[in-house]
Amino acid sequence: MNKRKYLVGIAAASALALGLSGCAGDRSGGDGGDDASGALVGVSMPSQQLERWIADGNNVQAELEELGYQVDLQYAADDTATQISQLENMITSGAKALIIASIDGTTLTSVLEQAAAQDIPVIAYDRLILGSENVDYYTTFDNFQVGVQQATSLLTGLGVLDESGEDTGEAGPFNIELFAGSPDDNNATFFWDGARSVLDPYIESGVLTVPSGQLDFEQAATPGWLAENAQDRMENLLTIIGDTKLDAVLSPNDGLASGIIAALSSGGYAGDIPVITGQDADVGGVKAIIAGEQYSTIFKDTRLLGAQAVEMVDALLNGEEPEVNDTETYDNGTKVVPSFLLESQVVTIDNYEEVLIDGGYYEPSDLE
Ligand code: BGC
Repeated sequence: MNKRKYLVGIAAASALALGLSGCAGDRSGGDGGDDASGALVGVSMPSQQLERWIADGNNVQAELEELGYQVDLQYAADDTATQISQLENMITSGAKALIIASIDGTTLTSVLEQAAAQDIPVIAYDRLILGSENVDYYTTFDNFQVGVQQATSLLTGLGVLDESGEDTGEAGPFNIELFAGSPDDNNATFFWDGARSVLDPYIESGVLTVPSGQLDFEQAATPGWLAENAQDRMENLLTIIGDTKLDAVLSPNDGLASGIIAALSSGGYAGDIPVITGQDADVGGVKAIIAGEQYSTIFKDTRLLGAQAVEMVDALLNGEEPEVNDTETYDNGTKVVPSFLLESQVVTIDNYEEVLIDGGYYEPSDLE
């Protein structure tokens, strides 16, 4: 018996033993572990508006092709109807597995029923797909921890915490404003909750003050993750808070940080930008860090995420069980989706060269 058939046998036996009927273990591209080589895999990414999704798409495609798969990679221009029709086309074209970074996690129920009817396994990529039982696995970064890292770096930037995360005794009070991501993206609440878990004790003790009083997720949210929406809100906040001087702004990603910085620059803070956080280590974000306009970003290595998603697909198409490391956190309203979470890293002016350049993510010339 060859190794793959042996593993398939073990997976089938353990699925039976655990009584896992109807779970992901019985969906293996409809081939029941037959030779998966050359199978078509559909990869659906939200948009090309942020660099990270382009890097994600390229990485996933390259990894799949290396294993001999054919790839249909589509970007949906941040439009849910486009994403649904692209997925329908992938199913019609004979895709044997789908990797999906959803735009709005709640809109895919019906197209995923079509996938399920053909035993096509579905991997939710970076963003959880909500309200559907037909999502088999999820791979992402530890999104709550991303929020914790953002808030921790904001406090480090203010001098409230030192480099090792110890409280310095600095009492402030510091004026900060808070931004959240798009409400239709499940990740946005995880980033927000993670950040608030760190910031709230300091807000309660008076070390931090939010002069606008806008402390609710709904008030802080940025529809569509659009930088211009963050810029508009930052301009409004500056009007609301009048002469109060801001010391820091919690931004949930680099794209929104650019809108926030634009509003601050034209609103009296040029050359004296407050501490601003980010996420994604976009070229624009890292350049803003080098220029001293943005304090930090969170690096999420899309190469690792792409490799993880591809490993999951390859396992499923070969009748094996993908590896997971979290079976509790990501409840999509219908089921808890078994997940593999990766770790993220805070990047500032102090370590961007080591992490991003020495780590091979960027060439020095990318950041010039
Ligand atoms: C991703 C972030 C990204 C944001 C906007 C989130 O779901 O996790 O990396 O910045 O979407 O595209």
